[in-house]
Amino acid sequence: MTMPVLLVIVGSTRPGRVGLPIARWFEEVAVAHGEFDVAFADLAEVALPLFDEPNHPMLAQYEHAHTKRWSAIVAQADAIVFVVPEYNHGYNAATKNAIDSLYREWNHKAVGFVSYGGASSGMRAVEQLKPIAACVKMVPVGEVNVSLFNVPVVDGQLQNTDGIAFAAKALLGELLRWNMQLRALRA
Ligand SMILES: Cc1cc2nc3c(=O)[nH]c(=O)nc-3n(C[C@H](O)[C@H](O)[C@H](O)COP(=O)(O)O)c2cc1C
Repeated sequence: MTMPVLLVIVGSTRPGRVGLPIARWFEEVAVAHGEFDVAFADLAEVALPLFDEPNHPMLAQYEHAHTKRWSAIVAQADAIVFVVPEYNHGYNAATKNAIDSLYREWNHKAVGFVSYGGASSGMRAVEQLKPIAACVKMVPVGEVNVSLFNVPVVDGQLQNTDGIAFAAKALLGELLRWNMQLRALRA
């Protein structure tokens, strides 16, 4: 049987972002977990403009090549993980724009979050993302919260990952279990 596809999405787009090394760390853990075919999407490379489709994404009648490309990337996924920073006590705008740009491609997929920030570890970003995810019919199943105070990024590498590796493995287990149930809804 083919393995489910887990799409890891890097939400932050700014030059020098720590989101990329954090996402690469999670990707490594997901590959080592061995139960997913892991795909990677970096919103800085996807480079969606601010939502510019004339039709509601529910209709899936996309006019622009950039939306069609994004649609194809998300459509091939069975489960999703957003790697998301906390900006001003919320999640970042590029992540919302990427979610708003599509609809059916998200439906009935398990979603997890790897958040990061200061003392909050990005938890406020995740709490705000959960109802957005539910609105496009994703099912939030877990999260990993990284405090950059305790788990810093040095020379592009996430450090001190022992504590959060446990949470990452738990999240992968939940994504797998929920995917088994949700794939019937997507069939
Ligand atoms: C615009 C902006 C707002 C921020 N607001 C918060 C915040 O509310 N809470 C927090 O814990 N960290 C905040 N930070 C610090 C970020 O967590 C930290 O800079 C992190 O590296 C940002 O992710 P990135 O490097 O992937 O862009 C903020 C950073 C930026 C750039």
